[in-house]
Amino acid sequence: MGNRSTAIAILFFLVTIFLVPAAYAGAADWLNPAKHASGGEDLEKAKGDYMLNCSMCHGENGDGKGDLADSLSVPPRNHTDATYMSSKTDEDLFNAISGGGASVGKAEDMPPHSTILSKKQIHGLVKYLRHLCNCQYKKK
Ligand code: HEC
Repeated sequence: MGNRSTAIAILFFLVTIFLVPAAYAGAADWLNPAKHASGGEDLEKAKGDYMLNCSMCHGENGDGKGDLADSLSVPPRNHTDATYMSSKTDEDLFNAISGGGASVGKAEDMPPHSTILSKKQIHGLVKYLRHLCNCQYKKK
């Protein structure tokens, strides 16, 4: 074998051991539905939904100080208050977002969203609220 074909053989060998597994891993990632259903991408979508539908009352960072807050009869919930937020289950949050304040015994200033957001989007928002409070439900 000449130098040239040795070099080509080595190159071919390197491509095989590095690139082929990398391509496989990429494809496996892409085919795995769990990778789509969770993680950063979903949180980014939920953040978009939050900015469009919630931030004008609850504030862009969830502190309850949105532009409309002062015009409401009840202050919007501060989603960064981990003590309060951890007293609520994910289901409580889902129901409040979906059915609105009046449906869960709270002020009707909190509007229902079941007709404008899908269940998937509302589940995403619950996750996003958990991200804002950096908390989970804690049983008392
Ligand atoms: C028009 C203003 C307004 C908009 C828009 C709004 N909210 Fe609210 N929200 C409120 C107010 C006011 C309350 C407080 C109700 C109370 O304490 O009686 C509230 C309460 C809540 C609660 C209930 C917390 C608890 O005490 O159980 C959740 C969860 C919530 N909002 C999430 C959202 C999300 C998510 C969105 C966007 C999809 C949103 N809100 C949009 C005004 C708003």
